[in-house]
Amino acid sequence: MRNSFYVTTPIYYPSGKFHIGTAYTEVLADSIKRYKQLRGYDAYMLTGLDEHGQKVETVAKSRGLTPKEHVDEIADYAKKLWALMDIDYDDFIRTTDERHEKAVEKIVNKFIENGDIYKGEYEGWYCMPCETYFTESQLVDGKCPDCGREVKKMTEESYFFNMKKYEDRLIKFYEENPGFVQPEFRKNEIFSNFIKPGLEDLCISRTTFDWGIKMPNDPKHVLYVWVDALTNYITALGYMSDDDTLFKKYWPADLHIVGKDIIRFHGIYWPIFLMALGLEIPKEIYAHGYIVMKDGKMSKSKGNTVQPEMLVERYGVDATKYFLLRELTFGQDMVFTPEGFVERLNADLSNDLGNLLNRTIGMINKYFDGIIPEKQKDNENEIDKNLENYTNEQLIKIEELLDTYHISNGLMEIWAIIARTNKYIDETMPWSLAKEENKERLSIVMYNLAENLRKIAILITPFLPKTANKMFIQLGITNSEQKTWDSIKNATIESGVKVIEKGEPLFVRLEKDVEIEYIRNNMK
Ligand code: MSP
Repeated sequence: MRNSFYVTTPIYYPSGKFHIGTAYTEVLADSIKRYKQLRGYDAYMLTGLDEHGQKVETVAKSRGLTPKEHVDEIADYAKKLWALMDIDYDDFIRTTDERHEKAVEKIVNKFIENGDIYKGEYEGWYCMPCETYFTESQLVDGKCPDCGREVKKMTEESYFFNMKKYEDRLIKFYEENPGFVQPEFRKNEIFSNFIKPGLEDLCISRTTFDWGIKMPNDPKHVLYVWVDALTNYITALGYMSDDDTLFKKYWPADLHIVGKDIIRFHGIYWPIFLMALGLEIPKEIYAHGYIVMKDGKMSKSKGNTVQPEMLVERYGVDATKYFLLRELTFGQDMVFTPEGFVERLNADLSNDLGNLLNRTIGMINKYFDGIIPEKQKDNENEIDKNLENYTNEQLIKIEELLDTYHISNGLMEIWAIIARTNKYIDETMPWSLAKEENKERLSIVMYNLAENLRKIAILITPFLPKTANKMFIQLGITNSEQKTWDSIKNATIESGVKVIEKGEPLFVRLEKDVEIEYIRNNMK
């Protein structure tokens, strides 16, 4: 049986259209799923929407819709957007799904049976947009530490989850699983800010709004946010339902991908809920950084929001994905600029990758009537061997990086192979070999170029699947055994196969000024 791999995205708030920050999380999860699949795993990806809560109720009202009408619309939008972005998710959970609501009730009942929940009075500083209470000491300049907005002092009757009861177990879990939260600096933040000072019990119910799952024992209380939201990762697999096949197969999750703002909830409350349910804890939580603009956060009021559909429709899905995956390095924030976007696409996609394929296809057509020449390993010289050794060494590095989800660094190393292969053309000067009528050298060089392009196409498959496919077609590779990850090492490109006569460029070169202007004018 194949090893399973379960990756999740956060479930997004359906407050409006998504920006490229949300799209990044989705693209990252999709690419990791595809990578794992290519490495032979039975990979499963979950995404969805976090549809309850006061904020949704408010937004719907302002639009003259019921909450249900509003979330249905956004769910439709989200599914269309992910289809446009070629996201290969396996399930889309909505917290308003009956399957979720039913399971959450059972989960809460289990907490009640365990004695994990008690009724109390909550007084705290509440941030409406974040739907989060903060203690006095957590506020930054009297404002919300997450979003910087005003907070309100509120007191209400609430149910609490007894977090303190699990504190020692949580600390022990972290000691035994030092890699649980990535990057490590995020784990250290959780520790020093929340675990060391002592865990606060978590308020899990509200009486001030309606749009949510009712507390089973006390329906004037509505569950608010984190019990409802976090449990999506298990309810989607059928936990507490009649059919829990998927749960048995995929739980515990291998990877929860989250933004840095919600790492606290995933790193503290989620493991504790799971302990309370007697379930295994996920293997890893990866917190990525934020996409910000030069003038700070993206926001509609500033009109500096970049919507993914705008980029995808004009530049293509692979180019947009590549940009996001390449520019956000492990756990760090990234400043989006239209200049940076256009430059990255031109340099890496149109120049480095596009030209390498184009030149190679052109030369194979010109010198060998489009037929990939015979492989002649015995006649290879130092230059050829250098290229091969370099590529093999890179592969080891790339696997290490991708296995630890360092996608940006992995892409950098893949592009180093592309640069090295371009350099091989300069070193071997095929045009001179043609002039000298040195057919033997020329055929070795063409063979090696085609072979490295095959390897490159495989390496980029999880990240730029459409582009990889176009490369296979242009190179005349139809045999699926030539496209597997293992075939990077275990196979070589077939000789005698015909490449395309005139391939379309993979990526058109962008007119810098025009495109910068275009992106700027289309921010919302
Ligand atoms: N509903 C909660 C998550 C519950 S998960 C059990 C939520 N939703 S959200 O819509 O506000 O955010 C969804 C994700 O998008 C979060 O991981 C958040 O970090 C991410 N991002 C929001 N803005 C972002 C950027 N500007 N850049 C990158 N990611 C960003 O939180």
